[in-house]
Amino acid sequence: MLGNFTYCNPTKLYFGKAAVENLRTELPGYGKNVLLVYGGGSIKKNGIYDQVVSILRECGKTIAEDAGVMPNPTVEKLHEGIARARACKADLILAVGGGSVCDYAKAVSVSVNCDEEPWDKYFIRFEEPTCPIVPVACVLTMVGTGSEMNGGSVITNHAQKLKIGHVFGEEVFPKFSILDPTYTFTLPRYQMISGFYDIMSHILEQYFSGTDDNTSDYLAEGLLRSLIHSAPAAAKDPTDYEARSNIMWTATWALNTLIAMGKDTDWEVHMLGQAVGAHTDATHGMTLAAVSMAYYRHILPYGLARFIRFAVNVWGVDPAGRTDGQIAEEGLRAMEKWMKELGLVMNLRELGVTEDMIDGLVKSTLVMKGGYKVLTEDEIRSIFKESL
Ligand code: NZQ
Ligand code: ZN
Repeated sequence: MLGNFTYCNPTKLYFGKAAVENLRTELPGYGKNVLLVYGGGSIKKNGIYDQVVSILRECGKTIAEDAGVMPNPTVEKLHEGIARARACKADLILAVGGGSVCDYAKAVSVSVNCDEEPWDKYFIRFEEPTCPIVPVACVLTMVGTGSEMNGGSVITNHAQKLKIGHVFGEEVFPKFSILDPTYTFTLPRYQMISGFYDIMSHILEQYFSGTDDNTSDYLAEGLLRSLIHSAPAAAKDPTDYEARSNIMWTATWALNTLIAMGKDTDWEVHMLGQAVGAHTDATHGMTLAAVSMAYYRHILPYGLARFIRFAVNVWGVDPAGRTDGQIAEEGLRAMEKWMKELGLVMNLRELGVTEDMIDGLVKSTLVMKGGYKVLTEDEIRSIFKESL
C-alpha cells in the first residue's frame, strides 16, 4: 500500500542534441549577474564552455566565474564559492558539469545570504534554509547522480573525515537543467562506468525496502532493466547515442524523488560509500560498487522475498527447480557478473583502503533505518572487511 505523499518536481528539463540552445529561452527570466560554476577544466577542452559563454554573452549577462570545483566538493571550496557569489551579487548560479558541480552550486545557493556556518547548519544539523536562495540551473556533462533534478547536495569535510549529503526541498532544485547526451561522450571511461553504477545503486537503495505491493517498485524494475540493457552497449561504444541517451534519462528518474514516493527507502550503501569517500576521496560510484555485494549478501536473509523478486523480474532468473535462497543468490550473481563485465571496482583495496583504516570507516558511516536490517557497528565492520 502506498503511503501518503505530496509530489512536486519543479525542475524544467531540456533534453537532447543541442539542448543548450534552450538557455536562450530561460536566461531572460533571471537578473543580469550570472555566476558560472564549473570543475577542473573538462568543459574548456570539449568546447562546452565556449558554447555556454557565447550564449550568456548574447543574452547580455555579466559573467563571473567560479572554476575548480573538485569531484567530492569540499567545505573549503564551498566557502570560496559563497564569497564569489556575494562579490558578484549573483542572480543565477549556472552549474556546468557533473554532480559535484551541481551539488556545490546548490550548497552555495543556500549559503550566500546566510550568516551561519553552512557545514554546521546544513550538513551536521540538517536544518532547512531560512534565507533567500539564489536560483540554480544546470548544464549536465556527467551522468549518474540525478543532481540535475533533485535537491541533493553532498559536501566533504576532510578535517572531520565526513562526507554528508543534505536533501533540500523543492526551492533548492535546479530551476532548469540542460541534458544533452552528446555532452557526456568525452567522459573518461572510469567516470562513465562509475556513473552507471551510481544510477543502479540509487534505484536499488529505493527498491530494497518495504514488503508491500507498490507502484514505485515496478517503476524501479523498469529503470533497472533499461540500465542493465544499455550500460554494456555504452561501455562498448561510448558514442552510442541510443544507449547514452537512455542512460541519461534513466539516471534522472532514478533520483528525482519519483520512485521513493509512498515507500520506505534504504540508502545504507551510500552511507558506506560516503565513508569510503571521506577517507580516500575515491570516485563516488566506485565506492558504492566496492561495498555493494558484501552489503546485499549480508541483508539478503532479512529481505528474502524482495531479493527473489529482484532475481526474477530484473535479471530474468528462472525460479523452476531452485529454492528461495538459490533464486535470490542467482539474482545477486547475475548482478555481480554485470558489474565485473562493465569493469567496476569490486573491492576497497583498489580504492586505497587498508585494513588499519576500517575502524575509521566504521566511525564515519551513518546508520539508516529504512532498509531490511538496521546495521550494528560490528556488521558495518564485517561488511567493510569483506569488501577489502
Ligand atoms: O572537473 P572536470 O574537469 O569537469 O572533470 C570531471 C570530474 O573529474 C569529469 N567530467 C565531468 N563531465 C565530463 C568530465 N570529463 C570529460 N568530459 C565530460 N563531459 O568527471 C569527473 C567527475 O565529475 P563529478 O561531477 O565529480 O561526478 P559525479 O557526477 O559522479 O558527481 C559526484 C558527486 O555527486 C555526489 C557524490 O557524492 C559526489 O560528491 N552525489 C550527489 C547526489 C545528489 N545530488 O543527489 C547523489 C549521489 O548519490 C551522489 O552522492
Ligand atoms: Zn550516488
